[in-house]
Amino acid sequence: MELVIPFGGRLNELYLPQDRVAVEKTAAHDYPSWDLTPRQLIEVELLLSGALSPLDGYMGRKDFEAVHESMQLTNGGFWPLPLSLTVDESFGKEINPGDTIALRDAMGVLISTMTVSDIWQHKKAYETDKLFPDTTAGYTTAELEQKYYLGGQLKGIEPPGHYDFNQYRYTPAALRALFQKQGWSRVVAYQTTDQMHRAHMDSVYAMAKQAEANLLIQPLLGEIQAGDMEHYARIRCFEHILKSSAEQTTMMSLLPFAQHLAGPRAMLCRAIICQNYGCTHFIHWEDPENQGKADVIAPYEKELAIEMLSSPVMAYVQERGQYIPLAQAAASETVLHISDEEFHRRLQEDIQIPDWYTYPEVLAELRKAYPPRYKQGFTVFLTGLSGAGKSTIAQALLVKLMEAGERAVTLLDGDIVRKRLSSELGFSKAHRNLNILRIGYVASEITKNGGIAICAPIAPYRGTRREVRAMIEQQGGFVEIHVATSLEACEARDRKGLYAKARAGLIKEFTGISDPYEEPEKPELRIDTQDCTPEEAAQRVVLKLEHLGYIR
Ligand code: PPS
Repeated sequence: MELVIPFGGRLNELYLPQDRVAVEKTAAHDYPSWDLTPRQLIEVELLLSGALSPLDGYMGRKDFEAVHESMQLTNGGFWPLPLSLTVDESFGKEINPGDTIALRDAMGVLISTMTVSDIWQHKKAYETDKLFPDTTAGYTTAELEQKYYLGGQLKGIEPPGHYDFNQYRYTPAALRALFQKQGWSRVVAYQTTDQMHRAHMDSVYAMAKQAEANLLIQPLLGEIQAGDMEHYARIRCFEHILKSSAEQTTMMSLLPFAQHLAGPRAMLCRAIICQNYGCTHFIHWEDPENQGKADVIAPYEKELAIEMLSSPVMAYVQERGQYIPLAQAAASETVLHISDEEFHRRLQEDIQIPDWYTYPEVLAELRKAYPPRYKQGFTVFLTGLSGAGKSTIAQALLVKLMEAGERAVTLLDGDIVRKRLSSELGFSKAHRNLNILRIGYVASEITKNGGIAICAPIAPYRGTRREVRAMIEQQGGFVEIHVATSLEACEARDRKGLYAKARAGLIKEFTGISDPYEEPEKPELRIDTQDCTPEEAAQRVVLKLEHLGYIR
């Protein structure tokens, strides 16, 4: 049985044979070392495994520019996407053509060496794409700002390590061997950065049947952070879907691929990767937001041995109780549709999602990964002057939330944190910021794991509070409460006698006296403790949390 030929004629795996690995590793001790960014690690993994065959490394300048201009390598071969190693100025200045460099992962593990053929500086002209003027060339601004580009052959030492879902990770050669063993000479590949629901699956099955081919589902994996729960939930959803698919004709393989590489060039590159993996058909979605639309890439399809299939937009027709291509629905029929936004709104607000939309196991998985607000973790961040009443409100709030008993509650009070977490820190701007960022980090971990963190530091600087908000909002809710008791009132109370000492010059850099307090501009709530008891203040916070949907 013959599988489809790899792109460019042969699979170009770039790993060194075992007997040369040890020698190259020893030699690499003396090579300048570049720590690959998460995205570059993905690129190198694809290059080394032969997924980007026939490339034998990062492109030199001439190839890079030719591909950018005309999607052609200097040897005349078709290639859609320019690909060179971008490095920063300090590293770039160290390197000369002919040097060999060591490419390492974030832990310092040697993944590959690279013999540098070319090094050049970036030109602004790459920003625009003459062939596809509607799209970017696939570079982020941050990358454009990096000053040096490197090209050169790679010699692979070891594949980047993964701990997650290794049973679904294949090199092109391994997947080809499996196809060969199973007699899969015709394979439809469906790649996706998203989840799949009934509409996608019905359409993909229909296309595989039409092509009389097996089906390979290839979830694309971007730059995954260790604690990225959505990534795990997404792959578990695919596992559920696979269980309900015919084992003899459907399988899944995970593909690392930098997600921001959108547009037709990336679409063509992904089709090449599928061909290298042994697939004969490549599905792309007909979707107005999909930049790789059929008409744009059609002229280039002849370059590939893989056949491009265009998937119609599917619609659920109530009268028929099934999905059909939207274009085939009669005007008299009731077409039901739930957009992605609507789906996420329903998850967020815990609203019913009909069975025709997705599979019950997938829904259960996604309800866990995207809980409604009243099940999410959140942080209450009380900020204000010393003696403003932050700790008292925090204590009362702690008790009220513990009474409700829904989630674990942790109090990170300013004084306690200073004893336990930040005992070596003083009250300079740098030390206060470090202290607040530590509190923010702990609170973000608590929030991520579905708990409630109550923080009560002075946190005098707006910029640092903003940083903490950004960190925590990635994980759940952030509710800032300005305990806005005036300086006069705090000083009049002076429970700890610190204001008197500060006035007498015995305590330096005292907030409100000899150090600034930048008031929050848009806190979720502002409380002046002169107007209310701590009990009332805590109750106002509870009502605000209810209003925001974090508690019921
Ligand atoms: S900060 O600015 O957020 O890092 O401060 P924080 O960790 O909340 O610590 C504030 C408590 O430390 C005591 N203290 C001082 N506060 C302000 N300025 C100076 N120089 C200072 N020196 C000691 C003070 O008791 C604060 O406690 P609270 O509970 O806020 O009154």
